[in-house]
Amino acid sequence: MKLLENLNWRYATKKFDPSRKISPGDLEKIKEAIRLSASSYGLQLYKVLVIEDHEIRKTLKEASWGQTQITDASHLFVFCNTAQVKASDIDDYLELKANTQNLDVGNLKGYGDFMKDKLTSLSPEAQKNWTARQTYIALGNFLAACAELHIDSCPMEGFEPEQYDEILGLKEKGLTAAVVATAGYRSKEDQTQGMAKVRKSADQLFETI
Ligand SMILES: Cc1cc2nc3c(=O)[nH]c(=O)nc-3n(C[C@H](O)[C@H](O)[C@H](O)COP(=O)(O)O)c2cc1C
Repeated sequence: MKLLENLNWRYATKKFDPSRKISPGDLEKIKEAIRLSASSYGLQLYKVLVIEDHEIRKTLKEASWGQTQITDASHLFVFCNTAQVKASDIDDYLELKANTQNLDVGNLKGYGDFMKDKLTSLSPEAQKNWTARQTYIALGNFLAACAELHIDSCPMEGFEPEQYDEILGLKEKGLTAAVVATAGYRSKEDQTQGMAKVRKSADQLFETI
């Protein structure tokens, strides 16, 4: 299985080669893998910022514990979740579904009411946690897509979300930074490349009932 080979190849890259850039074609493939990610009810209540601007990235590095991947990688992806679920988010989804699948939107009303009831009855904190969880599914696809393209990547939670929200003006857009990832090409000097993978054994990780 090629996926397993690719997952063994990838590692959380600590030091990128700042001179190497991802081609526009590969970038589109990575974005498409994110776009096709599964999400609960299909709502996709997040947005992914692809940050190329070096000045912004220098500021974000300060808000990311000084981690050099933020500035040295070819591209920085900020996965931003919707801070609060609105009834209009569900209406927008139902309209998209009806248009895409040639359905009568009126027939989806019961389904819409069910989703609205389930989601808008959650506390604001629970809503935020729920939308943030969806971004990690996209992050997983991002990592797998990069691995298949033999593009190096690093998923990152080592950053200050409040500072990201401020720097990127996310609050005004109803968003908040959930998780970050960088993509590009490893530096020859990255000491972590080639290190054995540290993973629990299958016996420890799985239990068949
Ligand atoms: C959600 C998440 C957040 C992470 N945050 C960071 C980070 O801020 N900086 C970093 O260098 N690595 C970060 N990592 C990388 C992990 O340390 C790494 O994936 C783990 O040790 C397994 O190693 P491997 O990915 O190289 O196989 C993060 C990984 C995940 C999944």
